Amino acid sequence: MKKSSRRQKNRQDDVVVCRCEEVTEAEVRAVIRAGYHSLEEIKRILRTGMGHCGGRGCLKVIARLIEEETGIPVASQKFPTARPPLKPLPLGLLAGYKNEQEDR
Ligand code: FES
Repeated sequence: MKKSSRRQKNRQDDVVVCRCEEVTEAEVRAVIRAGYHSLEEIKRILRTGMGHCGGRGCLKVIARLIEEETGIPVASQKFPTARPPLKPLPLGLLAGYKNEQEDR
């Protein structure tokens, strides 16, 4: 194995593409090479997009990896439906909890 391709492989093993679910680029590429070519399929297998950020941090990166591996353009890929809340909220806010320190 050439030094540059070994370095490339090590880089893929280390790069975390989904921080919420701690999924690496190498894991995503392995799933794509196993025949799963949609964001929804990869989400069901690796839980990418199901973390705290709802996929805002990883789905576009994974779509680019699908494009690299399969040639399916990012523009023609179907992104999973965003579910509310659209951005992370403190649980206390949803439960109506009132922080006493904020009143002071
Ligand atoms: S980075 Fe993937 S769900 Fe947040």
